[in-house]
Amino acid sequence: MDSILVTGNGPLNGQIPIAGAKNACLTLMPATLLSEEPLTLTNAPRLSDIKTMTALLQSLGAEVSSLQDGQVLAMSSHDLTSQTADYEIVRKMRASNLVLGPLLARFGQAVVSLPGGCAIGARPMDLHVEGLEALGAEIDLKDGYLHAKATGGLKGAVHEMRFASVGATENIVMAATLAKGTTVLKNAAREPEIVDLIECLRKMGAQISGEGTSTIEIQGVDRLHGATHQVVTDRIELGTYMLAPAMCGGEVELLGGRMSLVESFAKKLDAAGVHVEETRSGLKVARKNGRVSAVDVVTEPFPGFPTDLQAQMMALMCTAEGTSVLEERIFENRFMHAPELVRMGANIEVHGGTATVTGVERLKGAPVMATDLRASVSLILAGMAAEGETTVSRVYHLDRGYEHVVRKLEGVGAKIERIKGQ
Ligand code: EPZ
Repeated sequence: MDSILVTGNGPLNGQIPIAGAKNACLTLMPATLLSEEPLTLTNAPRLSDIKTMTALLQSLGAEVSSLQDGQVLAMSSHDLTSQTADYEIVRKMRASNLVLGPLLARFGQAVVSLPGGCAIGARPMDLHVEGLEALGAEIDLKDGYLHAKATGGLKGAVHEMRFASVGATENIVMAATLAKGTTVLKNAAREPEIVDLIECLRKMGAQISGEGTSTIEIQGVDRLHGATHQVVTDRIELGTYMLAPAMCGGEVELLGGRMSLVESFAKKLDAAGVHVEETRSGLKVARKNGRVSAVDVVTEPFPGFPTDLQAQMMALMCTAEGTSVLEERIFENRFMHAPELVRMGANIEVHGGTATVTGVERLKGAPVMATDLRASVSLILAGMAAEGETTVSRVYHLDRGYEHVVRKLEGVGAKIERIKGQ
């Protein structure tokens, strides 16, 4: 397994291009199953999760061609041969469950493996099932697979989700596009990736309104046609790299970044003493003066502070002036980066869903282990600001969500290299 060697190397300067959003692309790709006409995505990120979703769609009989070095995905599901999403693929990537709604809507049946737990939590699918059952689906769990049927097709309904789940919103919205009649989805998630999905579905002929709000209304149509859609900028990659100059000093411009994607995160950074300014080509980030100040964080559904930036923010708080309390309200086990940061000299106490971080002057490089996607990059950021060398192992986690991370950080002056594993 590869590892990444980082050496603390002072202020950063330059530009980092931000890629298309992994979590938008992972819901846009299954949308191809809703139509027998081609769907083409541009600005797609080059990530292992995208390769996993490609393999899943191909296992169903869809054609997926990766063009222009992976930035364009030309897809067609005209002749599907299967409606079963196999455990072997789904267990690797939970987002595989996003084929459930589209398969059910187009074919009236789907067999999708339950993903099983992952490092950050149990991640059940009850909210997906409740929503699809509200549309008339019959769903049974057998041998670890969800067997879903909608004989006679799905029917529009009014449904209120118990929690604003991102994935459940995506599955239900995609299914409702081909249901008979009107669906009103209440307490829907408002993430920009859902807005992006709905904009793409509308290009395919779907009748949807309310994206970005808690109430989404969908008028079912008989069929959807093909489209070409540009994947929205990745706000989590954007937020992650905004922390690089915040931790190391200097000034970095994140190309393609827009304030609207990271509003609550930018506000938190501003309160901590980090200046974020929108330019014509992106977001420019620099510390206002020396050491940042500790701020408290509570993770919430969008537009609140993103759970996917909690680990990275914790890395910043490790060397902030004062004490910061980070409360993780979305996942039940998302502090696995804390003990690794403690190995680097951080002062962190974790009690259940709350981590209390008392800032130290400077972290010290050490060998650490990546435990999940966002934890892996928080350790790299910490290593860039630490004294001495840090080796981050198990970086396959990183490849799931960050393209060319070494090249992008090297480009602004970080001392970082990838060490090939045995
Ligand atoms: C999406 O996961 C993202 N993944 C996650 O990003 C992100 O952390 C999460 O939304 C929250 O923003 C993709 O978009 C591919 P949820 P998702 O359904 O849809 C519970 C990353 O790092 N829940 O909003 O799975 C669940 O257990 C990944 O890129 C149920 O209880 O998130 C969790 O505690 C990590 N029942 C909470 O809701 C359900 O049926 C949020 O889950 C579904 C979810």
